[in-house]
Amino acid sequence: MKKIYVNGLESNEVVTTQVLVVSKEIRQKKTGEPYLSLILADRTGELEAKMWDNVAEVMETFTKDDFIKVKGIAQVYQNRQQFTIHKLRRLEEHEVEPSDFFPCSKRDPKEMFAELRRIVDGMGNVHLRSLLNAIFDDERIAGPYQYAPAAKSIHHAFRGGLLEHVLSLCALGKMTALHYGAVDLDLLLTGAMLHDIGKIEELTYERSFGYSSSGQLLGHIIIGLRMIDEKLALLPEFPATLRLLVEHMILSHHGELEFGSPKTPMFLEALLLHHLDNLDSKMETMRVAVERDRLAEGVFTSWVGSLERTVLKKEKFLTGAEEAAPAVRDKQERVEVEPQPPDEGNANEWRAGSGSAASGVEAPAAASGVPAKGTPAAGTRPEANKNNGRPISDFGSKLQAVLDIKLSDGKPGE
Ligand SMILES: [Fe+2]
Ligand SMILES: [Fe+2]
Repeated sequence: MKKIYVNGLESNEVVTTQVLVVSKEIRQKKTGEPYLSLILADRTGELEAKMWDNVAEVMETFTKDDFIKVKGIAQVYQNRQQFTIHKLRRLEEHEVEPSDFFPCSKRDPKEMFAELRRIVDGMGNVHLRSLLNAIFDDERIAGPYQYAPAAKSIHHAFRGGLLEHVLSLCALGKMTALHYGAVDLDLLLTGAMLHDIGKIEELTYERSFGYSSSGQLLGHIIIGLRMIDEKLALLPEFPATLRLLVEHMILSHHGELEFGSPKTPMFLEALLLHHLDNLDSKMETMRVAVERDRLAEGVFTSWVGSLERTVLKKEKFLTGAEEAAPAVRDKQERVEVEPQPPDEGNANEWRAGSGSAASGVEAPAAASGVPAKGTPAAGTRPEANKNNGRPISDFGSKLQAVLDIKLSDGKPGE
């Protein structure tokens, strides 16, 4: 078990640790020499890393999804930690403990799955119950459903994240159905359990998280619909009208056409599912943003693209410890500075030699505390991107509008 994890790195301290390579790019310095730009990870999080020197010796010795041992130093740059690698070497499979590297739910997946099955058992609607049992009795689905993340990044991006997200939606569904009496809870719970089921095929999560070919080409909504239709074909008694409602909930759960749903929600449970899904993912995204940047200076996190804002680190803010640091949108404003000499190390342990190696850090284009041109100050919004992030403020009004229309207060398919 490794001793130093990504979320425990202290700034300006030279450390040696093991990490998974999530992404690897070989770029060119102004001098024409190559440097490495990496995303590294272990189970506690991800870390941007750069290797500036002796790169030619190591750049072909490892690839994305390899485990590597790195020696280097973490520094806070533009309100976010960045690791400068002095030395690295690829690790063999037997040298690593897999549980050190893959973020996973704090809850036991089997225990979460058992909770899910109990919720299904408690449903009154025999058709929905038989559909869900047909799906979750299938080992090809049940296995990955327990370990899949809910997303590649952004929210619940850890093993078991999909199931944790689904159980959270079920809990929210039960609470909101109590408030909105016309909601059919069994239908809502079915939507919660199935809305993202296509992610078990859309995403890859054996090593670092990514998208499968079918995920890239079809997306989880279509993949999920296919999986459900395959099971429905085995259930001839399943009412055709109820089938349409289940399918519509899957199709419409992203809420808007521009966010990938071919239809917007057209009945109570579909609308509620969309808003609960949106709520749950955004709450988790905010929590993670604060957690990720907790060591960085300032009381605002760096820019969170999916939320189109920075997030206030409320606890730090309330203690009154620090002034807000300017948030910076991304890497575009970074420039290289002159390399700094590295510390020496055990050359035998590493493919990169010691001796004349030099390291460098990236530095902001603007002086400290002064946002670079085009860089938003903390809490301000960079150039608007209307296709990024979902609307979040119209939950009550839209649901009430559907209630007012009084589409139905019966339990379809019973
Ligand atoms: Fe989704
Ligand atoms: Fe979701």
